[in-house]
Amino acid sequence: MLTTKLPHVGTTIFTVMSELARETGAINLSQGFPDFDAPAALLDRVQHYLRGGHNQYAPMMGMPALRQALADKVRDVYGLTVSADSEVTVTSGATEALFCAIAAVVRTGDEVILFDPAYDSYEPAITLQGGCALRLPLQAPDFRPDWQRFEALLSPRTRLVVINTPHNPTGTVWSPDDLLALQALVCRHGLYVVADEVYEHIVFDGMRHESVCRYPDLYARSFVVSSLGKTYHVTGWKIGYCVAPPGLTLEFRRIHQYVTFTSITPVQLGLADYLVMCPEHHLELGAFYQRKRDLFAGLMGDSRFSLQPSKGTYFQMLDYSAIVDEKDTELARRWTREVGVASIPLSVFYAEPPGDRLLRFCFAKSDDTLRQAAERLCRL
Ligand SMILES: Cc1ncc(COP(=O)(O)O)c(C=O)c1O
Repeated sequence: MLTTKLPHVGTTIFTVMSELARETGAINLSQGFPDFDAPAALLDRVQHYLRGGHNQYAPMMGMPALRQALADKVRDVYGLTVSADSEVTVTSGATEALFCAIAAVVRTGDEVILFDPAYDSYEPAITLQGGCALRLPLQAPDFRPDWQRFEALLSPRTRLVVINTPHNPTGTVWSPDDLLALQALVCRHGLYVVADEVYEHIVFDGMRHESVCRYPDLYARSFVVSSLGKTYHVTGWKIGYCVAPPGLTLEFRRIHQYVTFTSITPVQLGLADYLVMCPEHHLELGAFYQRKRDLFAGLMGDSRFSLQPSKGTYFQMLDYSAIVDEKDTELARRWTREVGVASIPLSVFYAEPPGDRLLRFCFAKSDDTLRQAAERLCRL
């Protein structure tokens, strides 16, 4: 037997709950992926390249056409001019980008600040580099960062902060004040930032996504990570990217080339075409998911759950404390079997779960799926 480098890590909850949903035939609102297909025009473009002989290695940093389309999108959406050659790298999903960015920065003994609750891939990546994650709690009900407490947590060993806005699992969207506070602290203390912005285009109620790319002094010390899987309804393609200043990108690519080297060529080419052909896709994504959020919220209106605000992402947290007093990890499994709806227990995102009675439901589903799930949940 090998001695594990990740003693606190089991199989991710997303795999566990999706497996259970499959076994039991439950409606799967657990893992974050759509149950509807990608745009037909995008599938056509990928098929065009797949059939057209574009099936060998792409360049290590990604197909030039896709990197250029992404650089153009960053300029158009956030007003930041980045070089497709020296600042944009295509990766095998955001997960790989997060891993490489963390590996590029964290050295043995470094401290990294995470916000609690946090997406589950950050901490293992930090641990594998010999770093130590410190968690700063985001407190219910609004899950906002407390910048004074953040500063109090800093030490000479603090090297990196990992942020995530719009935030999985809480659906919180950071404000310009949050980004300005972060920028001031990062510059004052010489920190680096990994910004997980995979839900960058899924924000609601007229809010604006505050990308790190909008704050030049912050961008100068940041790796900005996103996922084409989330934006184009193709999570199974595992295509993400990292935008970072040239000096940081150089180190990022040094690692990326030995983690995955490159990602699937015809898919990169198809996505590059689609980004140029259909800029409205990402511009309309917020409205598309806001309608789903509102549909699900409306259907759940008569239930005994209480809905937490969801300002972005495709997740809705539901508080079940009025229904039952049971640990969320056990309840999520029991309700998958007995009610036929799979969800994600919130406590798994925490180092120190506060004991809230919250489950996370994914509403990136067809209207029919949402109706059926809500009908079952309303019976509780
Ligand atoms: C916050 C967050 N970051 C990263 C990822 C991973 O994205 P990808 O599938 O592109 O690796 C996800 C996927 O659920 C996520 O929710």
